[in-house]
Amino acid sequence: MKKKLIAGNWKMNGSVASNEALIQALSAGAVDAQCLMAVCVPAIYLVQVQRLVAGSGIELGAQDVSAHESGAYTGEVSAAMLREYGVRYALVGHSERRQYHGESDAAVAGKAQRALAAGITPIVCVGETLAEREQGLTEEVVKRQLAAVIHTNGHCISEIAVAYEPVWAIGTGKTASPEQAQHVHAVLRAQLRAATEHADKIHILYGGSMNAANAVQLLSQADIDGGLVGGASLKAVDFLSIIAAASV
Ligand code: PGA
Repeated sequence: MKKKLIAGNWKMNGSVASNEALIQALSAGAVDAQCLMAVCVPAIYLVQVQRLVAGSGIELGAQDVSAHESGAYTGEVSAAMLREYGVRYALVGHSERRQYHGESDAAVAGKAQRALAAGITPIVCVGETLAEREQGLTEEVVKRQLAAVIHTNGHCISEIAVAYEPVWAIGTGKTASPEQAQHVHAVLRAQLRAATEHADKIHILYGGSMNAANAVQLLSQADIDGGLVGGASLKAVDFLSIIAAASV
């Protein structure tokens, strides 16, 4: 059985001092972890956190990557630059990027492609809004979002990770029930199976108010291979209890 992957998404949080304290506590608490672990940190802190996680087993992740290779793209950070600083994972298409920065499915697919070309695993985020769920569009939306990435990346698709993050569950304290999440994960797995014979080795993470209390049940579902954790990744005790839940 593949190890579960627990990735923290710090979003726009942290400081030089608090990052150091958090990583120290995580490294000390995660020595016996049996899962894969990563922290996706603001770009400005990648250099600092690369040094802090060295030797800890915690991998470094970015929260975004440019869809362009290099050149006149002010403010952007390329996949090759991320790779130079030891970045192993990059979130692409987080709903906050889609919503506040107008990222289209095609742009997200391009970002995944740049990450893959640089040897970085893109964590492709998909998920429906509350209105879409209420209209019965959940499957259609997540399949459309994932299809763009499959279409652009061909056989390399076996090297991605996916995060199912219902938008209505992000930062709201509302979690998809284990059954609701498993249902969508199974849909995504079937879509990946149609695209690659290696679909079973792809991590499909659940994200959206995952916490110490609900992690065990969510992570025990057949197609939930880990978690993408926002709020609860900022407190060492909370993140460590999710890591413990993923280590059984
Ligand atoms: P949350 O965020 O755990 O705070 O809901 C998850 C995410 O947006 O990745």
